Amino acid sequence: MMPTVTTIGSVPWTRTELVEALPEFAELYQQRPIRENMGGMGAPHMFAIWFILKKLKPKAIIESGVWYGQGTWFFEHACPDAQIHCIDINLDRLRYRSPRAYYFNKDFSQLDWTGLPREQTLLFFDDHQNAYERVKTAHWFGFSHLVFEDNYIPGQGDCYSLKQVLAHSGFKRNFGRPKGIKGLMGRELSKIKERLFLAYPVIAPNARDAACLREHLQVYLDEAGSYTWLCYLKLRKQGSHGEF
Ligand SMILES: C[S@@+](CC[C@H](N)C(=O)[O-])C[C@H]1O[C@@H](n2cnc3c(N)ncnc32)[C@H](O)[C@@H]1O
Repeated sequence: MMPTVTTIGSVPWTRTELVEALPEFAELYQQRPIRENMGGMGAPHMFAIWFILKKLKPKAIIESGVWYGQGTWFFEHACPDAQIHCIDINLDRLRYRSPRAYYFNKDFSQLDWTGLPREQTLLFFDDHQNAYERVKTAHWFGFSHLVFEDNYIPGQGDCYSLKQVLAHSGFKRNFGRPKGIKGLMGRELSKIKERLFLAYPVIAPNARDAACLREHLQVYLDEAGSYTWLCYLKLRKQGSHGEF
């Protein structure tokens, strides 16, 4: 039986605080710049990240996977004084561009973050990349507060999620059930593309990734029983694994 993990350590907020913040969020949500954020976060996930940001008050935020820009707008409202760095490999789709954010169209791993207050920066990943690799890169840069959107359960989703890591499930892309002949052709085409470009390599079920991840986790919060709800993690300080 695969282990199911929902919480490691404890977060600096309570359920009561979450509930109490709802009316303020509901009012803000009415003012959002993009009415239909199809392909991006809806109110429940937007609330979660907005609340976490308000609570943690980071000095800098890195958002990877900006899409239309709706998230950026909420981040600005949650943390009016934070420096915001927005990354997306396709910035042509932006419908809201923040006047005070910096925009990049390179991958997070290729940018220079040495000027940021690493322990007071929150990374928000909604870029559908391998979350386990993202954690490793974030750790290398010295970041500790991370939030991942699309924390898929085993067997679902288009990228290796932390929930899958902790469940030892590995990752194999689920192409879903195709609808009609067009859907069938699309699915087969995606499979061929993936084989050719190795965009989403298969990761065999394993316990190693979970063991390595756990060693670096101080806090991990994932909504119990949730399908794709986002997760928050705090990594341990570097160099706390013993010395020569
Ligand atoms: C689901 S959308 C993001 C939705 C957005 N966070 C929102 O809630 O409105 C995923 C985005 O990730 C972007 N993306 C894909 N690969 C990326 C990468 N390596 N780095 C940054 N963004 C990437 C896509 O271009 C797309 O805009």
